[in-house]
Amino acid sequence: MMLKDKVAVIYGAGGAIGGAVARAFARERAKLFLTGRLRAPVEAVAKDIVSAGGSAEAAEVDALDEQAVDKHLQSVIDKAGRVDISFNAVGIPDTKILGVPLVELDVEQFSLPIATYTRSYFLTARLAARRMIPNKSGVIMRVTTLHSRTGIPLVGGYGPAMAAMEALTRDLSAELAPQGIRVVGLRPQAMPETGTIKEAFEPRAKASGMTWEQWQQMLASKTHARRLMTLAEMANVAVFMASDKASGMTGTTVNLTMGSLDD
Ligand SMILES: NC(=O)c1ccc[n+]([C@@H]2O[C@H](COP(=O)([O-])OP(=O)(O)OC[C@H]3O[C@@H](n4cnc5c(N)ncnc54)[C@H](OP(=O)(O)O)[C@@H]3O)[C@@H](O)[C@H]2O)c1
Repeated sequence: MMLKDKVAVIYGAGGAIGGAVARAFARERAKLFLTGRLRAPVEAVAKDIVSAGGSAEAAEVDALDEQAVDKHLQSVIDKAGRVDISFNAVGIPDTKILGVPLVELDVEQFSLPIATYTRSYFLTARLAARRMIPNKSGVIMRVTTLHSRTGIPLVGGYGPAMAAMEALTRDLSAELAPQGIRVVGLRPQAMPETGTIKEAFEPRAKASGMTWEQWQQMLASKTHARRLMTLAEMANVAVFMASDKASGMTGTTVNLTMGSLDD
């Protein structure tokens, strides 16, 4: 029970990563406040958790809307008295941002992931930190990808967006760690069981000339283990990083690429 009685808010909890992290946090006995742009997928995750004996409430919260995030966090404080963990797993559809060479890319399409990802992470982190500072305790978390650290064709503004979020993790930590708040990120390789990865492959399929199976094999061949990570493996690391066992860890994004990317 690594997260017993910790109060955790998850943004994008109806998605693949947000849902997997929510279930893993619940198994470790965290009290969960799950949010998403639409209520139904978040409600489904909360129902699963509650029927397995865990604690979860669902709410519709647009993680780009400052007032909505603030109002929801206040409701968490009113109900649970505190917030210990903020996990941002928000993702925007890759079809909107991938597949166009940079020289042909429209500036609005280039800017979309940079503005969206950084805005959502900044808002959720800043508003959670304001509630954590009085307790001198808390953990703020975000997921990125290896695009933050290596050149990949046809990904538009996605790489800069991921790099910006990892920079924000370091900067938030530099300001918040002296006040007892850790800020950490996870950087998993593609997890093929998520719809996101198939969606990301499709815009590039033609250019790469590969089938979906060949593409997965190509990604797996770049790892030391010659396989891609599962959602459950990623969520287990998230549990550890959110727990007090990781008290020595802040200002960093953990490389979960299984050797695809050197540190
Ligand atoms: N899947 C992977 O293998 C993988 C690996 C490494 C990193 N990542 C990154 O991790 C993040 C999450 O990935 P994922 O696979 O979990 O994606 P996902 O399944 O598409 O989940 C993203 C979730 O974010 C929600 N969302 C979008 N805009 C929102 C907003 N303004 N407010 C609140 N919620 C919002 C989505 O809701 P709607 O569906 O209603 O829009 C969706 O539930 C992405 O940044 C992705 O690039 C993914």
